[in-house]
Amino acid sequence: TRVAILISGRGSNMVSLIEAARARDFPAEIVLVLSNRPDAAGLARAAEAGIAVKAVDHTAYPDRVSFDAALDAELRAAGIELVCLAGFMRIFTPGFVEGWAGRMLNIHPSLLPLFKGTHTHERALEAGVRLHGCTVHYVVPELDAGPIVAQAAVPVRAGDDADSLAARVIVQEHRLYPAALALVAGGHARLDGDRVVFTDETA
Ligand code: GRF
Repeated sequence: TRVAILISGRGSNMVSLIEAARARDFPAEIVLVLSNRPDAAGLARAAEAGIAVKAVDHTAYPDRVSFDAALDAELRAAGIELVCLAGFMRIFTPGFVEGWAGRMLNIHPSLLPLFKGTHTHERALEAGVRLHGCTVHYVVPELDAGPIVAQAAVPVRAGDDADSLAARVIVQEHRLYPAALALVAGGHARLDGDRVVFTDETA
């Protein structure tokens, strides 16, 4: 399975996917890393790892439709079969999302459906939950709302602030995303309407 990773920032989840995909028996190959920000630190890290990189600068496009069309063209030109969003901070048009239905994953730093959107760790602390975590889900037009492929939970500890909690969650993100990608690329999880169907589950 030919995979593209879309990033906007440092790309630590991207690195975990690239490293996992190096294993001989991993069912997916990372062939392209795309960023909407030319200065994203993750682009240099991907290039160092020998992956093709491309910036599609959203500020160069007059609207979301034209930006999404440019992104779509890059993905299709590279023969991409599955897209992984990893800290990609742009909201897509419904048309773009529908074009990749069942073939686009995102990682979100909360136990969805709790805490959609940004500042999830602050909001988890504010809400007083005792468990927090991360979710890999299929992307649907509504933000952070798609069918769930995999989740990992961490405890909230006395004295946690957003940084200490984020540090505990990201360790799990780096484990969860490769496992979820392996499930999907290996054909053990697939989207059927608005449900995920699992077979021979290994994650
Ligand atoms: C991660 O916490 C991811 O879940 C969220 O943004 C952060 C990106 O981190 N959507 P990185 O760029 O993968 O290091």
